[in-house]
Amino acid sequence: MIGKTNPVPVPAERSVLSFTLNGEPVAVAAPPSRRLLDVLRHDLLLTGTKIGCEIGRCGACMVLVDGQPMNACLTMLYQVEGRRVTTIEGIAGGADAMHAVQLAFLEEGGYQCGYCTPGMIVSAAALLAEKPDPTDKEIIEALSGNLCRCTGYGGILRAVRRAAAIGREANG
Ligand code: FES
Ligand code: FES
Repeated sequence: MIGKTNPVPVPAERSVLSFTLNGEPVAVAAPPSRRLLDVLRHDLLLTGTKIGCEIGRCGACMVLVDGQPMNACLTMLYQVEGRRVTTIEGIAGGADAMHAVQLAFLEEGGYQCGYCTPGMIVSAAALLAEKPDPTDKEIIEALSGNLCRCTGYGGILRAVRRAAAIGREANG
């Protein structure tokens, strides 16, 4: 052979990976290293999870994996195999239901353009599931990975406080 040839990149193998999405079992045929963000938005057409920075800094793509907030832009499909993924579409647990955080964002005007809102709501819901009566400091820490560029954070903070109050009232 004359000279050397560069190895041709081999496309990643497609695999069928299964996980639970918003309470329903799903199986996706895709390269295991495909970003969860792309699987959700492009393969499964769940566009509530937003694309922002794509480097884990803005929180627009926040989803829950086994109840913990994770950036879908930094999560690979293989990392959620066998796990429970919840997106903004499933956060309330039903198509006609509204999570207390969603209701509180509406009532407190915790959004303007709304682009950051799904990620904010997912992070806030995770916080309240763990801490039903958070301090302001805990709310601010829980939302520190979510950036809002237009509404300011006053309404968002009020909304999470209000959601906590709604949750406490509902649970007696
Ligand atoms: Fe994932 Fe910004 S798009 S953190
Ligand atoms: Fe516009 Fe937050 S409401 S980025």
